[in-house]
This record gives sequence, C-alpha cells and structure tokens, in this order.
Amino acid sequence: MAAPFNTVPPPMTNMPITAGSQSISLTRYLIEEQRAGRINADLRLLIEVVARACKTISIAVGKGALGGVLGDAGTGDEASINIQGEAQKKLDVLSNEILLEANAWGGHLAGLASEEMDTSQPIPDAYPRGNYLLLFDPLDGSSNIDVNISVGTIFSVLRAPDGGTHAQDEHFLQPGTAQVAAGYCTYGPSTMLVLTVGNGTHAFTLDREIGSFVMTTRGMRIPAETKEFAVNMSNQRFWEAPMQAYVGDLLAGSQGPRGKDFNMRWVASMVADVHRILTRGGIFSYPLDSKCAAKGGKLRLMYEANPMSLLVEQAGGAASTGRQRMLEVQPTGLHQRVPVFLGSRSEVEAAERYHAEHDASA
Ligand code: AHG
Ligand code: MN
Ligand code: MN
Repeated sequence: MAAPFNTVPPPMTNMPITAGSQSISLTRYLIEEQRAGRINADLRLLIEVVARACKTISIAVGKGALGGVLGDAGTGDEASINIQGEAQKKLDVLSNEILLEANAWGGHLAGLASEEMDTSQPIPDAYPRGNYLLLFDPLDGSSNIDVNISVGTIFSVLRAPDGGTHAQDEHFLQPGTAQVAAGYCTYGPSTMLVLTVGNGTHAFTLDREIGSFVMTTRGMRIPAETKEFAVNMSNQRFWEAPMQAYVGDLLAGSQGPRGKDFNMRWVASMVADVHRILTRGGIFSYPLDSKCAAKGGKLRLMYEANPMSLLVEQAGGAASTGRQRMLEVQPTGLHQRVPVFLGSRSEVEAAERYHAEHDASA
C-alpha cells in the first residue's frame, strides 16, 4: 500500500530530507505557504518564474564550451563593459536576457533591476503590471565561468510602492528589511535553489530527470560558532585597520587572543561561499579596502548583500557592514556598494566589535 501523503511539515531544523521519505516540490512548498497566508498568488508565480529561468540558466551553464557560452561578451576594443565598470561575460548577458524575458509577461511585476543594466526596467506596456519589484545578479561569480567552478544567480523581491504603474529607480531604494522574498540558485555539481519568503531558509535541489526543484533541507540553520572564514586575502594590505586587526587575530589561531585555529576558504563566487556557510557555518567578508573605498565597497547592496543577508538572518545567522545591520542600510542608489560580513552570528559580532573598538579609539 502506498504511504499516505505527509501533510505535517517536518520541524524547523537543519535536517536534510532523505530521498524517498517525502517529496516536497518547490511548487508544493509555495502553495502551502500561500494557503498559510504568508505569500499571495502573484508572489508564488514570481518565484516559480524565477526558478524556471534559473533552470534555463543552469542548462546553459552546464553545456559549457559545448554551448559556446564561455568567454567574454565582447572582444578587444569592443569589450562589453557594464554599469559596474566590469567586462561582461557571455553568460552574464545571456542570464540577464533569460531572466528579463521570463519575467516580462506574467503580470506580477511593476519592474526589474539588474546588476547588468544601467537603470531599472519597467514592464513593457504590452503586458499587465503587478505589485512587485524584482532585482537580480543574473550570474554571480563570473570570474569562475571559464574555469568550470560554481556560479549562481541571486535575487531579491520588494513590493512596488506604486503598484501597477511604471517602476522607476527610486521605487527600488528600500532597505533589505522590506524584502518579501530572496534567494539564490547555485550552479554547482548539483543545481540548488535556496529561498526565503520570510519563514525560514529552505534548500531545493533540481531533479534533472523530472525538471523540478525538490526540497532537500527545510529550515537551514547556521551554527552560531565557527572556525572558518572566507575573504580574498590578496587584498590584505588595502584593508582598513579594524579588518587588519580582526584577520590578524584569526590567523594567530590558538596562539592568539581568539584561542582557536581557523581554516580559510574562498571560492570567489559569493553564491558558493554563502552556500557553504548556510550549510556548515563560517563567516564571509568582503570588507572595505582602499581600492574600492570610493565606491563604498565591492559587493552590491541591492543584488548581492541584501538578498544574502535575509537568507542568512532567516537561517539564524547575522549580516553586517561591520558597522551596521545590513538589512537596515537605507539605499541611496540602485548600484550602491557596501562592505559585507555575514554568516555565523558570534563571528559577525566579533568582526563588528573590532570595528566598534577601532572607531571609538579613533
Ligand atoms: P559578479 O561575478 O556578479 O561580479 O560577482 C563577483 C563577486 C562575488 O561573487 C565574489 O565574492 C567576489 O566578487 C569575488 O571577488 P574577488 O575577485 O576580488 O575575489
Ligand atoms: Mn555577483
Ligand atoms: Mn554578476
């Protein structure tokens, strides 16, 4: 006799869901969230559409050289430079186009903004407009595309303050606390979608045979303590004094004031680094340095820091600029950059202490 459907969600722990015990597709999860009154039909559609676009990007990424998708979008003098001042890869452009096309016609959005586009885009007049705003980093970790290392897509959803009308850049300038959903898709050995609609952070793995995302961890939890940090150490000499002091003490290990030995990992794809931290803990940082100080930092508040910070907080972790809770930063520009510290709560608090002590003595 077939086992009855399990209608009781498992407890909110970092419990991987073993194959066969129950199969909760992304669609089922979203319908249950809608029934519980936590999301509406438009937000459910929006997330389904983003997930579908991520499947398409996953197929392009997976084809690699066979799909002709590796390499730069332009060549030589014709190099294609985006609004961030960075050379675009073919997959940056393709992923942006896939997300734009998928989200244009569903009627759930008032507008979109992307790391790869100069300004936000309203929904074309040919289609109905909805009450949400979607922001994305279509392809995160571009430097890893050509060397076959994990890349990803990051997205954030806000309410349109003036729903149903043409979205303008200033409509997007809402703090991270206003996000109604956030997530990323990692294109690694397996393709995974990690999502929050404000009720925990959950991981779904793409079942490539069936073509659907299936929940594989309900309620991801980041351990409060960690012995692992992620930072691009080659920037050390450019860091501010408090970051020098903080990492200096991490490197001193059991001989230093922290009294324990730390390990280091740096994938250089934020999606992959954050996925590791959501899975086993750690601290991720991209601090202010003298090379990026004029821009405010390296990583983008609206497309990278805010969605990742919501996912991390929903998993019991913390996210900060080093001096302020990330989600409370009031954005002043669509492409604004910020210093980032996120992950295991006690370690993010330690990094903040170094900044506070330095600022107080200065
Ligand atoms: P993107 O590919 O969207 O421009 O983002 C790259 C980001 C982030 O994914 C990563 O953590 C960081 O840049 C890597 O920076 P370094 O090359 O300085 O290590
Ligand atoms: Mn990125
Ligand atoms: Mn990108």
